Formats: sequence, C-alpha cells, structure tokens
Amino acid sequence: AYYNEPYRPQFHFTPEAHWMNDPNGLVYLNGKYHLFYQYYPEGTVWGPMHWGHAESTDLLHWKHLPIALYPDKLGMIFSGSAVIDKENTAGFGKNAMVAIFTYHDDEIWKAGKKNTESQGLAYSVDEGKTWTKHNGNPVLNNSGEQDFRDPKVFWNETISKWNMVLAVGDKIKIFSSANLKEWQFESDFKPDDDVQNLGVWECPDLFPMKVKGSAETKWVMIVNHGDKAPNGGSGTRYFIGNFDGKKFINSQKSLWMDSGTDFYAAVTFSNVPNDKKILLGWMSNWLYATKVPTEVWRSAMTLPRELELTTNGYFYFLNQKMIPQFSSLLSPVFESKEVKTPFEKEALNLSQAQITFETNGVSDAIISLSNNNGEVFTITLSGGNLVTDRSNSGKIDFNENFANKPQVMPLAGDKITNVQLILDKSSIEILLNNGKYSMTNLFFPNEDYSVLSIITNENKPIQNLKISSVKRIW
Ligand code: FRU
Repeated sequence: AYYNEPYRPQFHFTPEAHWMNDPNGLVYLNGKYHLFYQYYPEGTVWGPMHWGHAESTDLLHWKHLPIALYPDKLGMIFSGSAVIDKENTAGFGKNAMVAIFTYHDDEIWKAGKKNTESQGLAYSVDEGKTWTKHNGNPVLNNSGEQDFRDPKVFWNETISKWNMVLAVGDKIKIFSSANLKEWQFESDFKPDDDVQNLGVWECPDLFPMKVKGSAETKWVMIVNHGDKAPNGGSGTRYFIGNFDGKKFINSQKSLWMDSGTDFYAAVTFSNVPNDKKILLGWMSNWLYATKVPTEVWRSAMTLPRELELTTNGYFYFLNQKMIPQFSSLLSPVFESKEVKTPFEKEALNLSQAQITFETNGVSDAIISLSNNNGEVFTITLSGGNLVTDRSNSGKIDFNENFANKPQVMPLAGDKITNVQLILDKSSIEILLNNGKYSMTNLFFPNEDYSVLSIITNENKPIQNLKISSVKRIW
C-alpha cells in the first residue's frame, strides 16, 4: 500500500480508507505508541463510530491494525482515552490496557429522552490486539444530560486514585475512582468569567506539568469546542491552573492552542516515558470535514507535538514543539545565513522551512506558497496578527465556510523571531516563536505548491533560513 492518491498526506497519519475523526485512547506501552481513532469503516463521511487502531514506535511511522472496538447494543463507541492499569485496580489483569469511552445510543434519543450518552470500559491484555468489553457497562450512567462524553482518565498520584474529566454540556465534570468501575462525582469546572457561548464542550484533558526553568508544577486543562472557535467552527483551548484531585481552579483565562481552523479534538498520550506530554489533534473542522475533496479516506491527524509549559512571570503558555525524532524525516535542501528578501525558492514540496528573523523580531512579512496554476496560500504578518488566506488556494467551493474569510491569530504584542512551516500535500502547520503560537490549515491546490516566497517589511534580511525536504512515512 502506498497511499499516493491526490491530497493524501505523506507524513501525517491517515486511515487506509474511510472516515476518521478524533484521536482516541492515546497510550504508550512496551515501546509502542497506540493511536485509536473515531472511525466509520463503511463510508467516507461520519457514521456509526468504531475505534480504529494503529501503532508506532516513533510516533511518525504507523502500522495499521484491525478495528479495536465495534458498536454494541449499548451504542456507538464515541471518543475516550486509555490507561495502563499497572496495579490491576480494575481486576482485568496487571498492566491491562483499559479503554474508557462514551457509548452513544441514538435509540434513547429517538425515544424522546436526552441521556443518550454514558461511559463504558473495554480492556486488552495483549497490548491492544484484542479487546473485551467489561460486562458491567456502562460504568458511569447519565441521569439526563444531553451531551455527556469523551472521558479522559489518568492516575493521580497525589490522591492515589483515578480521575476522570468528562465534557458535559458547556462545562467539565470531574470524577474519581479507585477501580475504574465505580466513579464518584467531585466537581464541575466552568469559570464564571469564561468566554461565553462556545457551544458544546468536548474532548477534555487534564495533566500536571513542570514549568520550564522552575520547580513549580501547574495543571493543564484542555477543552475542545466543536463550534464557534474564533476563526469559525472547531477549536481547542487550554487553561492553566491547580488541581487537588477534586477541584480544578484556573489561574488565568484560557488561551487557544492553535488558531487555524484545522486543529481539533487534541489530547495527550498517557504513560509516555519521562512524563513527556505529547499532543495529537484531528486536522479538520466539523464545518466542512465531511466535504473536503478527498476520495478513499477522509481526514488526517496533526503531527504529534511535544508540549512545554513556560511562564513570563505573569502568565503561563504552552509551547508546541515538533517531537525530536521528526528531524529523522528531514534532509537539508537549502541553508543560508543573511538571506536577502524578497526571497523565492522553487521545487518545494513535502518540506519544512525554518525562518529565523533578527533577534528583536519582525512585525511585517508576507510568506506565500504557490503553484504554476496561479494558486496561492498566503501567510501575512501585520498589525499584530498572523493572517492566513486560502481564498485563492485551489479547490475551495466544496463548502462555503472553507475559504470565506482570512484566519486571524492575535500575537499578544509579540514580534516574530522565528517561523517553522511544515508543508505536506494538503496541509501546513505554522509554528511561531518556538511554538508559542500555532496555526494549522488544510488546502487543496489543483497542483502541488512548488514555490515558497518571503517578503519582509523594508526588505529586512532573514538571519537564517533552512529548508528541508520531509520523507514520506509509508
Ligand atoms: C468531537 C466529537 C466527540 C464525540 C465524537 C463522535 O469531534 O464530537 O465529542 O465523542 O466526536 O465521533
């Protein structure tokens, strides 16, 4: 299998065929990273959900595996997480891989009731190859809430118990458990002064992180929103705060994790060596995900990103970095110091460009990707924002929301010192200032973009420019 259909990502994860959405059950065990995902194996649009499965030793090269979880009489298998039960708290076996997922039962809805969703367990004692559903499902029932889903479970050392964060309507509910089977409600999380009207909350995550360069630990709460993100449709934000096993209290207002329209349902892997926090998102948007012009399969994941928590003394920020092993896919094609602008480079495809500006940064620049067909994707730095525009990027009219307006990322007064662009067949991931800002976009040009051009205000030179080609993973 070579996966070389039009628009097929060459170094991002895609299912062999059919529909995929959220990453699920991200977990590391015995040298392998497991990626489960929302999957409909009978079509290229959303349908009754299963958990697809793939594994990888480096988070870059993936092996497709058989479907892990199928719908059953309790419903479809919606999003959720996986843990390694090291102490056999649930009685499924020492080091069992346990999946905690949402059952979604449309029959209940059709019967006129709202509580369509509940949480169930399944376990595997052969490293995720075969799965058994727990015979006491559901383990967390729903007394009447309409949206009650996407459990993320983790072992909390400070209380020697499991915690679960669950998205319920427009808030997060926190639970605890000694055995993964009986869950006790602890608290609701929704700050009084929070951004209003962000629709239904989905796919939460919660984990502690050491603040870089300090002895301090803070907790990170991730919340995804299917609709009404700043540039339209789906988006991911995070809160930094404190958590005692019962209540999460945020220390500052939320920040958007990625300002592009194609970064969603992002959550982290559990059980990763050295406690690294590795984030994976679904690279699409519910506004148009089922309409994008791909055949055979639909949707890709973002590249995995390693998180780093930093502070400027007042606020905390999550930086997103490419995992170190990403560099094993790179071969240098151009490197130069003091590059004059306007700069243009041809024969570009499947590549990474790392642009370093002068130490105090720039605030005005235009970077574009274009092809011989006159199609162009532009990235403009101006007025304190980064703006992407795909109105002339290629195929856009499959959905009115795809390219109807430029996408704006506010830069909180920062000048830009470095830009990392990662270009696959139909996507770009843009990281600014060592990953403090992130913007992910899809595009569908009628032929590959082949030219990169960079213009800076007053033609300020680029201090360092490095372009590498990226090897395909299949
Ligand atoms: C997020 C989501 C989840 C749900 C799943 C269904 O994209 O809507 O809330 O569990 O997708 O596929």
